[in-house]
Amino acid sequence: MGNPKEYKIQNLKIPDHVAIIMDGNGRWAKKRLMPRKFGHRAGAEKLRQVVRWCADYKIKYLTVYAFSTENWQRSKDEVNALMNLIIEFFGKYEDELRAEGVRLNFIGELSDLPQKTLEVVQKAERDSQERNRIILTIALSYGSRQEIIRACKLYGDALQSGTMTPDQLTIDNFSDFFYAADLPDLDLLIRPGGEQRISNFLLWQLSYAEMYFIDKLWPDFSEDDLYQALEEYSGRDRRFGDAR
Ligand code: FPP
Repeated sequence: MGNPKEYKIQNLKIPDHVAIIMDGNGRWAKKRLMPRKFGHRAGAEKLRQVVRWCADYKIKYLTVYAFSTENWQRSKDEVNALMNLIIEFFGKYEDELRAEGVRLNFIGELSDLPQKTLEVVQKAERDSQERNRIILTIALSYGSRQEIIRACKLYGDALQSGTMTPDQLTIDNFSDFFYAADLPDLDLLIRPGGEQRISNFLLWQLSYAEMYFIDKLWPDFSEDDLYQALEEYSGRDRRFGDAR
């Protein structure tokens, strides 16, 4: 049977696609009398750990909310710190991400990013395309309503150019107009930080996802918290609207 933990893991139902709203960095820093940007730094380190844990569980897709369209309204100091943190992260952990087999995808209005941040994320994405142990999608300058409106406009273009006719639109092919067309629907959303809301994240893709909220700040999220989320997910009865 192996060790008890291994046995427990073997009995989990592993979701294909997990999303995380990484909330609570600011409060984590405040509790330590530190500026908010230290919380984001701790949050980035947590992301690094969680990617590894998810890959070990053989979760195929992990999608995280790193920066929303609304986050541009934060102080210049905080926004700059986050943009620089992203640059630093992909420089520092390039080898590790390669060794772990992490393919990167970025979704959102990437053209809003400062030039240097944009170059770094585009290069990180390009360099990772051959890897396939886990697909990590990072939402930057992302808003789900904006993504849906953008998709409608692209669909309008397809109608105008005659590459599609109105009767050809389906639930499946509408998502071809999203930032990452080939991402499967979500199975599980985890939101640490104590809030129980979606905050304009992946509204379409979450249609049948299970929700898991945990009253712990993101930098404090542990391997055991991930295990408990997966255990809870394994026990959920997913009927997709069916009456069974
Ligand atoms: C929300 O917490 C978190 C963010 C706006 C930023 C999340 C970013 C990271 C975890 C780092 C990402 C790094 C890379 C490399 C992708 P909050 O600041 O709103 O927390 P609060 O609710 O406690 O104020």
